[in-house]
Amino acid sequence: MKKLSLVIALIGACALVPATQAQAQGPIVIKFSHVVAIDTPKGRAAEHFKKLAEERTQGRVKVEVYANSALYKDREEMEALQLGAVQMLAPSLAKFGTLGVKEFEVFDVPYILEDYDALHKVTEGPVGAKLLAMLESKGILGLGYWDNGFKVMSANKPIKNPGDMRGLKVRIQSSKVLDAQMRALRALPQVMAFSEVYQGLQTGVVDGTENPPSNMFTQKMHEVQKHVTVTNHGYLGYAVIVNKKFWEGLPADIRQALEQAMKDTTKFANEIAKKDNDDALEGIRAAGRTEIHVPTEAERKAWIAALRPVHKEVESRIGKEILEDFYKATGQK
Ligand code: LMR
Repeated sequence: MKKLSLVIALIGACALVPATQAQAQGPIVIKFSHVVAIDTPKGRAAEHFKKLAEERTQGRVKVEVYANSALYKDREEMEALQLGAVQMLAPSLAKFGTLGVKEFEVFDVPYILEDYDALHKVTEGPVGAKLLAMLESKGILGLGYWDNGFKVMSANKPIKNPGDMRGLKVRIQSSKVLDAQMRALRALPQVMAFSEVYQGLQTGVVDGTENPPSNMFTQKMHEVQKHVTVTNHGYLGYAVIVNKKFWEGLPADIRQALEQAMKDTTKFANEIAKKDNDDALEGIRAAGRTEIHVPTEAERKAWIAALRPVHKEVESRIGKEILEDFYKATGQK
């Protein structure tokens, strides 16, 4: 066992005490770890869930939210969930490939989701449910999807056309589809944990990045990126996941209350995400350090033309079936 796994396993040992037994000694503790700031769509949703869950179980459940990678970074948190060191996460859909569920990377395919309406046709319908069901074999239950937003590209030089990305070292999340996307632009993708991106940009380890404005603004990435282009070329959002053994071991009344709290939180999360991102883009503009470019119609067409071949290229990795599911659900073909 790797050193990291061993540490997480030791921390997790207490968490694997059956919920019913733990209850006699005090509240059931749900550790919810995430990597973004509190004032992001995910950060706010996590706090909302904590409030509802604690109120509705009259304190029989305590939700401890650890924001900003305070407990674990990207890769570690997945491992921690499986080992029971934390009970709840909401990782970006781009990070599920590392769990061995490559189909989730379909969300990273450039220009596969036009807007939030198209997104909800997937996440609130049978295709979204089918994807969540794939997690069960990994000891994980998917409770729902939380929205974030559509990604912008940033760098320290203007990037108006896809050709401007050539040769740039660009930070990506750990998704092979995002790797293919950056290579299609002749950029040099580099996987890096979210918590390290600001420093990576500041020191020049990477030249640029992609993220929804809410993530960029709350991590102050705009302070070290002179140019942002609102390409909206891809989507970044989350699946809320729990350790299956833990969840199924909860007393039935508690589990029901938590499931309802999650349902209500999901509604809240998906109502705030778009506005949070619009506000964050305005925040970046108002900070005055970053030039924001909105592509012209001709430029937008050039980005789509440069990235469309990625659909075919990643078909063998994520599967033709899930691609077709997406096209059908969103009425693309
Ligand atoms: C990223 O790594 O850029 C995002 O997945 C962070 C997040 O959780 O939104």
